[in-house]
Amino acid sequence: MSVHKEIKRVTTHTLQEFKEKGIKISMLTAYDFSMARIIDTGGLDVILVGDSASNVMAGHETTLPITLEQMIYHAASVVRGVTRALVVVDLPFGYYQGNSRLALESAIRIMKEAGAHAVKLEGGGEIRESVERILTAGIPVMGHLGLTPQSIYKFGTYTVRAKEEIEAKKLLEDALLLQKSGCFAIVLEKIPAKLATAVSKELLIPTIGIGAGGGTDGQVLVSHDMLGITKEFKPRFLRRYLNLAEQIENAVKQYVDDVKSKNFPNKDEQY
Ligand code: KIV
Repeated sequence: MSVHKEIKRVTTHTLQEFKEKGIKISMLTAYDFSMARIIDTGGLDVILVGDSASNVMAGHETTLPITLEQMIYHAASVVRGVTRALVVVDLPFGYYQGNSRLALESAIRIMKEAGAHAVKLEGGGEIRESVERILTAGIPVMGHLGLTPQSIYKFGTYTVRAKEEIEAKKLLEDALLLQKSGCFAIVLEKIPAKLATAVSKELLIPTIGIGAGGGTDGQVLVSHDMLGITKEFKPRFLRRYLNLAEQIENAVKQYVDDVKSKNFPNKDEQY
């Protein structure tokens, strides 16, 4: 679609316009300059510097260990590679929950030191005060409901959330509350497609789904998953567009062979 070529810089207003016009929003994660530059050139609307960097970049089992300083380092690298997409950065675990002053300080550091365009926080009613205080500084906030990986030890599993009516009802209430507080969009992670569609229809602001079906206003994936760099992660919702891990392994094998066999470098590859 040619829509992306007409837009110089995606803003939160662009996303609202997309929702109103029924244009789907594309979002992927990035954690470094080189990947951000490539995916931004691909015409993506939103780049999320996710705290999934804790898993993908640092090899941790959960998103909990990543620090604000590490998120700022990743975010600043991404911002330097982006000219078109809106760059949203996750506030990491321990830097906003139960303390709205800390939340505002953390968000300001992300905006000031990394040059980000917005922040994302996980949770509903319980983080309302943090969301509203961050918004007083003019910082756009994206919400995140459903499977919120920073609460993995509360859930105990990464399975689909809000299958039961009581949790589904709470999710819709939280979504409406985040919208009322002033969030510009909400990520819906790993919830039944029917619920995600209903929430998306109910809200005026855009929803961006991951494992939430096609009824949301946009889609997000972890770039390393959709590019096939993380081989072991195979949830049902993931579509792989490349098998990069395999291609990189083959390239490395070829390089090792070339070095060992003295095929590399050849006469043209030297001074
Ligand atoms: O950290 C992350 O990558 C995320 C997406 C999965 C939405 O929050």
